[in-house]
Amino acid sequence: MFSMSIEEQKQAAAHAALAHIQAPCRLGVGSGSTVKHLITLLPQVKNNLASVVASSETTARLLEQNNIRTSTLDSVGDLDLYIDGADEIDDNLQMIKGGGGAHTWEKILACAARRFIAIVDGSKQVKRLGRFPLPVEVIPLARGYVARKLAAMGGTVEWREGTVTDSGNWILDVRGLELTAAAEQERQIQQIVGVVENGLFAVRRADLAIIATPDGITQHGG
Ligand code: A5P
Repeated sequence: MFSMSIEEQKQAAAHAALAHIQAPCRLGVGSGSTVKHLITLLPQVKNNLASVVASSETTARLLEQNNIRTSTLDSVGDLDLYIDGADEIDDNLQMIKGGGGAHTWEKILACAARRFIAIVDGSKQVKRLGRFPLPVEVIPLARGYVARKLAAMGGTVEWREGTVTDSGNWILDVRGLELTAAAEQERQIQQIVGVVENGLFAVRRADLAIIATPDGITQHGG
C-alpha cells in the first residue's frame, strides 16, 4: 500500500513542481519547510533557471548553500513563475500564508509573477480558510493600534513576541475572523494604517496547486 508521511508529501509536491520550471525561467522561490525540499531539488533544473529571487533571507541562504545564485527583484523585473508553500489552501486556491513570518516578501514575489504554483501536503487543504491564525505584519509602533482594529473586526489577536521580520517589523496572529469573502477581508485589513501586509492570498491566489496526499499527487488549476 502506497502511503506517504507528511515529509514525503512535501517532498513529492516539491518534486512535481520541477516539471513546471521551463527555460529560461525567472523564478521566485518561497519560504518554509516544503520549499526547503524544492531548493534541494533545484540543482536538477539549474540549466532552466535564468534568474532566481528569494522570498526571505532564510531562503536566500538555503539557495546559496545549494549553489543557486540569487538576484534582487529589481534587477530581474517581473518573474515567470513563483513557487511557494501555504499554511492553508481552499478549493478556490486562496491561501493563508505567513506561518514563518515571510508573507510580505512572498506576496510581493507572487504578485510580480505571471504564474504562482502552490506546493502543499494534504494537511493544508481546507474547505474554509481560518483555522490557521492569520499572520499580519505590522510596523512596531502600530502594534497596539492595529491589534485593537483587528479585535473590532472580530479577531482574537496575539503578538508573536520575539519574531522580527526580514523588513524589521512585527507579526500579529489573528484568530476567529470571518474569512468567507477572503479577497474582501484581505483588502479591508490592508486599509488599517500600520499594517504592512496580511497573510491572506486571495486577491493574488495560486494559479495551480500541487497537493500531495498520503496516496499521491493531485493538481488543481492551471
Ligand atoms: C512562510 O512565511 C509561509 O508563508 C510558508 O510559505 C508557509 O508557512 C508554508 O510553510 P511550510 O511549507 O513549512 O508548511
